Amino acid sequence: MFYSTDRNDHGLPHDPFKAIIAPRPIGWITSMGTNGAINLAPYSYFNGVHSKPPMVMFASEGRKDSLEFIEETKEFVCNLATWDLRGQMNQTSAPYPRGTNELEAAGLTAAPSRLVKPPRVAEAPCALECKWLQTVELNGVDGKPVDGWVVFGQVVGVHIDERYIRNGLLDTAAMKPIARGGYHDYSVLTESFTMRRPASLAEVTPPASGGEKVTA
Ligand SMILES: Cc1cc2nc3c(=O)[nH]c(=O)nc-3n(C[C@H](O)[C@H](O)[C@H](O)COP(=O)(O)O)c2cc1C
Repeated sequence: MFYSTDRNDHGLPHDPFKAIIAPRPIGWITSMGTNGAINLAPYSYFNGVHSKPPMVMFASEGRKDSLEFIEETKEFVCNLATWDLRGQMNQTSAPYPRGTNELEAAGLTAAPSRLVKPPRVAEAPCALECKWLQTVELNGVDGKPVDGWVVFGQVVGVHIDERYIRNGLLDTAAMKPIARGGYHDYSVLTESFTMRRPASLAEVTPPASGGEKVTA
């Protein structure tokens, strides 16, 4: 099938777009307003965008509290959402009034960050302390603003629960990170495989070969 997004003539009961761009990692973002109010909310339009230095982005559909707070204090923390924390993660997405501390509301523990003021979620196995870099306002092909905002941040500090470091490597699958799909769907990472990138053209293997399956 094919459909154009201006007509959205897919004929399906629900828009399949987010089921295609899946699984999406979830940035579970802590931020703080100038008045000290703390906010926590999940964002699946989230990813790493650069390595040296490490940088992340998330996108806000509308000017939500996380965006407002981050623009006020220029700092945020991306906590890792996992299978064990799925209920709390979901709870923090509820439309609480601005100023509600979703971290407390979900019964989570705030742990102090080292290099930024917003706390991290103590229960999360990893957290990225970030400094705000820029916010890009999105315009559509017609040049008109769509009320979409992409926030970029530089990761200045990284917390890792050392129980998940095995043989010097961080065992992502052991943390069981969850990811967002379409509709109300999620997936959970429980296994991974290793495949080395060819260092030269001589090392290029035929399609469908390479890749050693590893079960967590
Ligand atoms: C798993 C998940 C992913 C989400 N991803 C996004 C997203 O990428 N962008 C967005 O604007 N809202 C997203 N939401 C909705 C926000 O979490 C929700 O609007 C929340 O209330 C925003 O909180 P805030 O106003 O405190 O920042 C997501 C919700 C869930 C449960």
